[in-house]
Amino acid sequence: MKTALSQFIRGGFAALLLAFIVTTMPAGAQQPSSVNPTAQSVKEDQLLRALKPGDQLTGRISIPDPKAASLIQPGRDWRSFNQETLPKLGTYAVLGMLLLLALFYMLRGKIRIDAGPSGQKILRFNSVERFAHWTTATSFIILAITGANITFGKTLLTPIMGPEAFAAWAQYAKYIHNYVGFAFMVGVLLVFLVWVKDNMPAMADLKWFAAGGGLLSKGHHPPAKRFNGGQKIVFWSVVIGGFLLSLSGWYLVFPYNTTLADVQWQATIHGVAAFVLIALMLAHAYIGSIGMEGAFDAMGSGEVDLNWAKEHHGLWVEEEMKKGTAHMHPAE
Ligand code: HEM
Repeated sequence: MKTALSQFIRGGFAALLLAFIVTTMPAGAQQPSSVNPTAQSVKEDQLLRALKPGDQLTGRISIPDPKAASLIQPGRDWRSFNQETLPKLGTYAVLGMLLLLALFYMLRGKIRIDAGPSGQKILRFNSVERFAHWTTATSFIILAITGANITFGKTLLTPIMGPEAFAAWAQYAKYIHNYVGFAFMVGVLLVFLVWVKDNMPAMADLKWFAAGGGLLSKGHHPPAKRFNGGQKIVFWSVVIGGFLLSLSGWYLVFPYNTTLADVQWQATIHGVAAFVLIALMLAHAYIGSIGMEGAFDAMGSGEVDLNWAKEHHGLWVEEEMKKGTAHMHPAE
């Protein structure tokens, strides 16, 4: 009993002495004035505040993977880009484009065949061209949905589906995204091969742009060959954007022999290129379907109405007629 009491008194005295020393010490002696990462008392919070964006803190390790030595990775800039800037950019690009299309539809309505259907059909795209188009288009749509899920899914879907269901869907979506990427690469390559010769810039394109593509006024169609200026923009955006997306996507799926900063750059390129192309493709899909009478047939059956072809691609029809390569027949 006596021993316990004396231990208690001694313990209390030691605690009091320690408290006295700490409170009477100068402030600078309690906290290091500059952060020394090797000092044992450095707190994580202090380190985070002292590290500049892009800094990296590494230690020494004895296993072969050098990335494991990284205690604090560079990447807070990237994290804020990925979690704030990219979702904002994606929202503005997609909603902005949908708004523009809705406005365009209200002002211009569906673009009709001015002369009305002719009752004659002309072959516009053969089966190889349509295969190239739909391989690219369907894979792109799947990639856009599963990719947007990475940027927006957690915020938009978790409240509806709940965390478990979202986690399961997100995992499937990621697998689908990684595999369908290969079909997209094949599609873009095919699109490039089948149409590059018809998409070289020409003087006629400048005239087409100067006339606003004839999209804003009825009855006026600037002459165009197989593809007009606007379609050439779509073509080169798909080729260049598709190439950037494929290369950066490959890097992200196979990140071997690379640094973390490289991976962050590739993810940035991937995200920006994806949303820019999605916005452009919304406009393309609109004009190729509900926005213009007779346009979808070109990628549906491959045959378009002759009057449609004359109005939108007059120079191309003339060329085909002259060469004798125009495949025409009466509409059923
Ligand atoms: C449901 C969505 C889509 C529809 C309805 C659609 C429709 C069409 C149509 C009708 C054409 C032929 C236009 C003509 O006769 O001159 C066309 C061309 C083309 N499409 Fe699509 N498309 C869609 C999605 C896509 C996507 C997602 C891509 C690529 C990622 C794409 C790439 C192209 C390219 C490169 C051309 C040739 C250039 C041009 O005409 O603009 N399409 N599309």
